[in-house]
Amino acid sequence: MTGTRPPGPSRRPPQPSLRPAWDDAGGAARARDLFASAFGGPPDGVWSAPGRVNVVGEHTDYNGGLCLPIALPHRTYAAVAARPGTRRLRLVSAQEPGPPREVDLDAVGPAGTAGEVPGWAAYVAGVLWALEAEGLAAGLPGLDVAVDSCVPAGAGLSSSAALECAVATAVDDLAGLGLAGPAGAPDDGGRARLAAACVRAENEVAGAPTGGMDQAVALRARPGHALLLDCRDGHVEHVPLDLSAADLELLVIDTRAEHRLVDGQYARRRQVCEAAASVLGVPDLRAVADAVRGGGTTLDEVLPRLADDEQRRRVRHVVTEIERVRELVDVLRAAPGEGLAGPALERARALLDASHESLRADYEVSSPELDLAVAAARRAGAHGARMTGGGFGGSAIALVQAGEAGEVMSAVAAAFSAGGLADPAFLRATASGPAGRAAG
Ligand code: GLA
Repeated sequence: MTGTRPPGPSRRPPQPSLRPAWDDAGGAARARDLFASAFGGPPDGVWSAPGRVNVVGEHTDYNGGLCLPIALPHRTYAAVAARPGTRRLRLVSAQEPGPPREVDLDAVGPAGTAGEVPGWAAYVAGVLWALEAEGLAAGLPGLDVAVDSCVPAGAGLSSSAALECAVATAVDDLAGLGLAGPAGAPDDGGRARLAAACVRAENEVAGAPTGGMDQAVALRARPGHALLLDCRDGHVEHVPLDLSAADLELLVIDTRAEHRLVDGQYARRRQVCEAAASVLGVPDLRAVADAVRGGGTTLDEVLPRLADDEQRRRVRHVVTEIERVRELVDVLRAAPGEGLAGPALERARALLDASHESLRADYEVSSPELDLAVAAARRAGAHGARMTGGGFGGSAIALVQAGEAGEVMSAVAAAFSAGGLADPAFLRATASGPAGRAAG
């Protein structure tokens, strides 16, 4: 499932550089140009949505837990025009060149049925299908859609959620659903409903059994803040995250070992968690985390009641990971901005490192490339590093001193080269804004 791209002929790693995010005007212009060359004429507008990294709280969302993602400055841009009187989609993507993909909205159905939509078109068609299935819209018109993106695909940075959420905000505007709220005054409740539709699109039409964190942050993030998401009831809090004030930055290491969520491993983790909750007689593993936190029980009491070692390790990860989210939020709140130093920074480091170890040893979703990236970043001076997202390849994050990112990048690139792996890629994660209509 993890396909490492083959190394090139020369093994001397190039000086690594950061993959830039497009500015809004540049991203919108790219999508408009693609639209004009594919369909002729201008679109009705351009909408965009961010990729994400999760700071902590991994594989907790589908357990009713807590997670703490941020929106990346890297976004997917969708230039869109309505096609009133039709029910047909025509879709092009700069990342998947070729003639327009055509989809009949009336024929769309869940993955595994006659209505299955193959490939990336499922993420677009799925959103319209889900908006109608959720009763948020009826009889939506067909669309022409041209997509361009600087969110790397297959890197565990939620490029699929970015596409879904860009399309959802476009449909919201064009069909007058009024859910996202006006620019500058986002309607969080309406956005939560759009996010729910995007999750249905991904789960049912694209067939990836993901848990909802990605769509929530793409639609509900706030610039300069991490999103504390309570996945039991969808409640969010915006936790200030001004790393530059503390002379820190969050570096994303894309191992370029592609991760896939549509295969069985992710689904298997979900099933084992659900089975464990049922053995324990609770609705979800969040209930166990809450009971442990409240002093009603301990992990030592809970774990022996489970069916086998697999359940025990999965439950230990989920329960301790939910607690790490709470602790990191406490650290960030107690030490906002320049306060993230000294013991607070040491605590943040310990939490990030413990999260990775738990995901590696107990949840078993890391990969050799992720472990290598994390170890090399720590050796080069990172204040904590961990895999981020679903795992099985994809990306890691490292908290680094501002100005030292270059050294960490070189050290990680050298470790990959020495290990015979393809060159990793790097991005800087600054907490950015949610999906909406792009200026320009
Ligand atoms: C993927 C899924 C999310 C979440 C993470 C793990 O990114 O899309 O819903 O489960 O994995 O935290």
